[in-house]
Amino acid sequence: MIYFDNSATTKPYPEVLDAFVKASENFFANPSSLHRLGARAEKLISQARLQIAGILGVKPGEIFFTSGGTEGNNTAIKGTALQYRSRGRHIITTSIEHASVYESCRQLEESGFNVTYLPVDHTGRININDLKAAITAETILVSVMHVNNEAGAIQPVEEIGELLKAYPKILFHVDDVQGCGKVPLDLHQAGVDLCTISAHKFHGLKGTGILFKRENVKISPLLTGGHQEGLMRSGTENTGGIVAAAKALRLIHQKYTQEAGALAVVRNQLFEKLSALADVSVHTDPGLSAPHILNFSVRGIRGEVLVHALEQEDIYISTTSACSSKTKELSRTLLAMGVTEAEAEGAVRISLSYENTLEEAEQFIRILERTIQKLQQVLGRNT
Ligand SMILES: Cc1ncc(COP(=O)(O)O)c(C=O)c1O
Repeated sequence: MIYFDNSATTKPYPEVLDAFVKASENFFANPSSLHRLGARAEKLISQARLQIAGILGVKPGEIFFTSGGTEGNNTAIKGTALQYRSRGRHIITTSIEHASVYESCRQLEESGFNVTYLPVDHTGRININDLKAAITAETILVSVMHVNNEAGAIQPVEEIGELLKAYPKILFHVDDVQGCGKVPLDLHQAGVDLCTISAHKFHGLKGTGILFKRENVKISPLLTGGHQEGLMRSGTENTGGIVAAAKALRLIHQKYTQEAGALAVVRNQLFEKLSALADVSVHTDPGLSAPHILNFSVRGIRGEVLVHALEQEDIYISTTSACSSKTKELSRTLLAMGVTEAEAEGAVRISLSYENTLEEAEQFIRILERTIQKLQQVLGRNT
């Protein structure tokens, strides 16, 4: 099997599963319970929070546990809107955000907010001058993803943070679901107020996420009730998932520190070989993108046809993002990057983990070439 769909989700590390089982068995009590068992579970969560804060270079009080990237993004955006709607009703984001950001913004538009969706260039990057020009006295939030999930483009987060220093009333949210563990981001240095992370994208478990909220930044909680997570996110804590997330974050940061260039080596090999294939257009610019994502199309072959043909060879890739792959809509991201509709229809995404190897890359290219030839013969016969 070749698993090249790590931006959809990753396989949990064995150590992560082990941490989950142990925490769930030995610390099963409700962390809010007054008795000793509850206190032990609460302490375990505090230790996980401390560990995560240390790795991210922030304070433990700035870490909030969520159910994943979708909740983190919804909380950051709608929580800011709810908190500051009397100050202003303008939000700036990009035209290539993940659906959880995009749909949150669309929902806010329906209730009277104005949203500016910044354009991107052919590499998927926004222009900082466009952002500057979009700011008004009404702007309360700028939400820009760090790494795009479909094409891999890295946004100039540090530059945006620098610009926003002149606007202390505008909050800066970064969706770092795809960047965490692969493209470093210093949250304080970059002036980030809110940052979303999801554990299943770095070998943690699905349904666990982290929202960084800078100390002194106030947003309105979306989930109210039992007052957990400092009133920011009510609901009984997922003790096992939180411990597993801390473990996964530690392991992925270790991988990054020890093997920083490893992903790019495999990606570059794939990029070179793909670029040399007839009928293939690569939409990712490796010089300006995260090291684990490559998006390309094969002329005349629909993305889903290629995905299923490769599946027959035990190779797993995606059409655009996993979330939108069943909607059959063309990728908003690729169209915004100026990719033609025909090419967008054929787009597929390879996404790597540190477990993938050069041998897999070689094998993938060999099988891809063969598969394209076969499909072209079949499709040619049918037209
Ligand atoms: C950039 C980005 N943001 C947010 C999400 C949503 O994360 P989750 O699956 O944890 O809800 C994803 C998932 O694909 C993503 O790629």
